[in-house]
Amino acid sequence: TPSLAAALLCLVIISGERFLPQCAGCPRDDRRALLDIQSFLSEHLPLNYWDSSIRDCCQWRDVTCDSRTGRVTGLDLDAFPYPPASPLNTSLFLPLEELQSLSLKNVGINGCMPGAGFEIWSKLTKLKVLDLSGNMLNDSIITSLVALSTIRSLFLNYTALSSAVTIQQLSTMKLETLDLSDNAINGTISTGICNMEILQELHLNDNMLFGELPSCIGNLTSLRVLDLSNNLLRVKFPSPSFAKFTSLVKLSLSNNHLEGVLFLSSLSNNRQLTHLELASSGNDFQLQTENPATDMSAQLQVLVLRNCNLNGNSAVIPRFLLHQHSLDLIDMSNNNLGGYFPSWLIENNVNLSYLILRGNSFSGPLFPPPKVHINLQWLDASCNKLSKLTMEINVSLPNLQYLNLSDNSFQGVFPSSFNNMVSRVGVDLSSNNFLDDIGAAFKMIGIANLILSRNNFYGSLPQELPPHFFSSSAK
Ligand SMILES: *[C@@H]1O[C@H](CO)[C@@H](O)[C@H](O)[C@H]1NC(C)=O
Ligand SMILES: *[C@@H]1O[C@H](CO)[C@@H](O)[C@H](O)[C@H]1NC(C)=O
Ligand SMILES: *[C@@H]1O[C@H](CO)[C@@H](O)[C@H](O)[C@H]1NC(C)=O
Ligand SMILES: *[C@@H]1O[C@H](CO)[C@@H](O)[C@H](O)[C@H]1NC(C)=O
Ligand SMILES: *[C@@H]1O[C@H](CO)[C@@H](O)[C@H](O)[C@H]1NC(C)=O
Ligand SMILES: *[C@@H]1O[C@H](CO)[C@@H](O)[C@H](O)[C@H]1NC(C)=O
Ligand SMILES: *[C@@H]1O[C@H](CO)[C@@H](O)[C@H](O)[C@H]1NC(C)=O
Ligand SMILES: *[C@@H]1O[C@H](CO)[C@@H](O)[C@H](O)[C@H]1NC(C)=O
Repeated sequence: TPSLAAALLCLVIISGERFLPQCAGCPRDDRRALLDIQSFLSEHLPLNYWDSSIRDCCQWRDVTCDSRTGRVTGLDLDAFPYPPASPLNTSLFLPLEELQSLSLKNVGINGCMPGAGFEIWSKLTKLKVLDLSGNMLNDSIITSLVALSTIRSLFLNYTALSSAVTIQQLSTMKLETLDLSDNAINGTISTGICNMEILQELHLNDNMLFGELPSCIGNLTSLRVLDLSNNLLRVKFPSPSFAKFTSLVKLSLSNNHLEGVLFLSSLSNNRQLTHLELASSGNDFQLQTENPATDMSAQLQVLVLRNCNLNGNSAVIPRFLLHQHSLDLIDMSNNNLGGYFPSWLIENNVNLSYLILRGNSFSGPLFPPPKVHINLQWLDASCNKLSKLTMEINVSLPNLQYLNLSDNSFQGVFPSSFNNMVSRVGVDLSSNNFLDDIGAAFKMIGIANLILSRNNFYGSLPQELPPHFFSSSAK
């Protein structure tokens, strides 16, 4: 048969040691280079990372080849958890001339060996994606990276960078993606960043950046992801810069010093927005969603509006939420929202997994959603004014894993339906006025952790408590 003939031909060619790529897989030089890299990194990678008994290196783990030529185009190493750190011999990679994507994530390098830094990879003229994240590098490597003019995506997250000058230096590169998150960059974001005209993703989250954002940031009109969360930045609203963005998919400003009034309508041009995360670390910020009324064209998946003085603490739940159906996380903690608990958020969003509404003023009963909602895992209604629990929770929220009703005004008995939960749920009922016989209320079938302090429970817990069970019924 023809396929048998092809296989035989391949065998002949392989044993002849010279490549006819379409059947012999990667050429000998690429294979040799990979084996050299493996032996150089032998203390960093798990033993026998690549099985050299398999002749075709295109079949080795984390290796990608061009299907036509068989040349290695991608290398995606990740040696987590952290191996010992030592300098890298960058020359070992030069034979992989067709390399387009190189990930050396978590492989335990702390720089380059003397004589050849990362700059020699400018000979790898096809290289577009470079991931050095999770290594103990430092600011000293930046100048050698800037020389790599073909790189479009650069991942330097979690690499012990500390100087804000790095941002300035890297902004001379033609990058579409820059990830500098999870470092200790201490300084301000300079205007140089605005030169990165084709930038689509900027991750600067989890650093120690302070000062104001450069007002030219709005020049980066191709931005899809802007993550500045967990810094010490001052972001003032209303901001003409933010109004210029139209392509945002993710905007995260959480845990910075937000100031002034942000009109949500100024972001409504971002039709592809799926993640919106705002959480001010101070109290000088207000998010205004009703005046003017905002009709988000986007369907969000993640919405964090924590500590946002929503609509000047007017207690109104943003109306645009009536038209949202794809949310999987909602956090609107600490906004003084009031009225009945908005179970409709659960009903409207079939994928909702996390609903966090702690620290508001919701009152009345906690109604169950009328239909089964299998995705809700996390419900935090703590620190509200809720008074009655009517949930047939085993029916409506069968997969709940965390329920926090602490610090409300719940009274009466605890619904026995909890004992029929499918999942093992952790429940915090502390600081309420529940009045019930513990032994009758908690049969312990579905409850993993239970906090009952500061209530009026009486009686005693059943004997057969699971070992991880925590309880305190002290009044
Ligand atoms: C790095 O690897 C190259 C290629 O194998 C080799 O010629 C060179 O001696 C090595 N450099 C060092 C410092 O070991
Ligand atoms: C940065 O890394 C280089 C190479 O490992 C090292 O020689 C240097 O001491 C480091 N600098 C700092 C400030 O840690
Ligand atoms: C760096 O960030 C990218 C996403 O931008 C992520 O895929 C990668 O796992 C991160 N690296 C580390 C070491 O966390
Ligand atoms: C950040 O840099 C400032 C000087 O610019 C310095 O005073 C401060 O101690 C640094 N913070 C940390 C946590 O290193
Ligand atoms: C960038 O922003 C600055 C200040 O906001 C503005 O003056 C300048 O014209 C902008 N440049 C471009 C190319 O849009
Ligand atoms: C719910 O999630 C699934 C799986 O991610 C997705 O296919 C579906 O479109 C989502 N539903 C809505 C309404 O967003
Ligand atoms: C429940 O919420 C309260 C108040 O928000 C918080 O202090 C407590 O740690 C939470 N309980 C659990 C078990 O997470
Ligand atoms: C839910 O709990 C109630 C009260 O314990 C029980 O009558 C009912 O059969 C349970 N339903 C399911 C589906 O487990």
